[in-house]
Amino acid sequence: MLETHIVSLDKIQSEALKAIRSAKSLKAMDEIRVKYLGKKSVVNSVMRGMKDLTPLEKPILGQRANVTKETLQKAVSEKLKELEQAEVQGKINKEGLDVTLPGLPIERGRSHPLTRIIEEVEDIFISMGFTVEDGPEIEDDFHNFEALNIPPHHPARDMHDTFYLPGERLLRTHTSPVQVRAMQRNKPPLAVISVGKVYRVDQDPTHSPMFQQVEGFMIDKKITFGNLKGALHQFITTLFGEEKEVRFRPSYFPFTEPSAEMDVKWQVSREIDGVMTEVEEWLEILGAGMIHPEVMRYGGYDPNEYTGFAFGAGIERLALLKYGLKNLRVFFENDVRFLKQF
Ligand code: PHE
Repeated sequence: MLETHIVSLDKIQSEALKAIRSAKSLKAMDEIRVKYLGKKSVVNSVMRGMKDLTPLEKPILGQRANVTKETLQKAVSEKLKELEQAEVQGKINKEGLDVTLPGLPIERGRSHPLTRIIEEVEDIFISMGFTVEDGPEIEDDFHNFEALNIPPHHPARDMHDTFYLPGERLLRTHTSPVQVRAMQRNKPPLAVISVGKVYRVDQDPTHSPMFQQVEGFMIDKKITFGNLKGALHQFITTLFGEEKEVRFRPSYFPFTEPSAEMDVKWQVSREIDGVMTEVEEWLEILGAGMIHPEVMRYGGYDPNEYTGFAFGAGIERLALLKYGLKNLRVFFENDVRFLKQF
């Protein structure tokens, strides 16, 4: 009796091992596992014959059945591991990466043309002994207007279409307030430039509600209009890389006296009698002048002891001229095809 059971266990075991060895898929393995190791497995059906054995024989068959179960379990789990690995390998082979293929090119970024102009402008003035200072874009009336000799109701305020903010604050309409702050912070002699964003309620092809200015000023004993002309001429020549003809026209700013605007002689193409012709024109490029005595006083300096010059230029305007462009909107649209050209 016991003998028969053991023989059939042997048979089951070798049959199962053969099936496991030749299984080709995880699904086939699942069926084998159910057949030989599941609740209703053939091994368990042999065990059910145990009830007819003697008390001495029962443990012998039990142990023998456990050996079969363990052997099969081990074989199953080894085969499963093997099949899983084969499946992963198969996937890799099918979807495979060919590491010898050339990669996708990585585009190299570059500085925005305005950033480049700003860096150039700063470098030029630093090389002339100026330092660079910053000021807030959200200003108060005092620094943006009053300390620059533009009291309330002064008609010059109309020239600055100002964005007003709650709480007596405003978006600075020019970089000139940095002059006031720098004067209050430092003692002369002083040679400072400041580049930054300014805001005006204005929008057309040559005006944007936000644009950038470079402000510069120099204060010491005996600074003259000659120093202003020399500094600006050197600035323009270095920035445009060639000797440019410049001229100063009388102008008006409340914070400078006398005031001037500087024009640069420029080659432009114009349609004349239906023909595109290269002509020379004067283009306005910046405002400047000798710092007004009242502004000196607001900054804390004695106008009888110190004099100074100041100027302010639009960064986008400088960039348009340098790169020969017409519409300043291209600087803000950030079309990479445009930006790539620089
Ligand atoms: N702040 C003036 C403007 O925005 C420019 C300027 C600066 C003029 C300094 C003279 C001196 O128009």
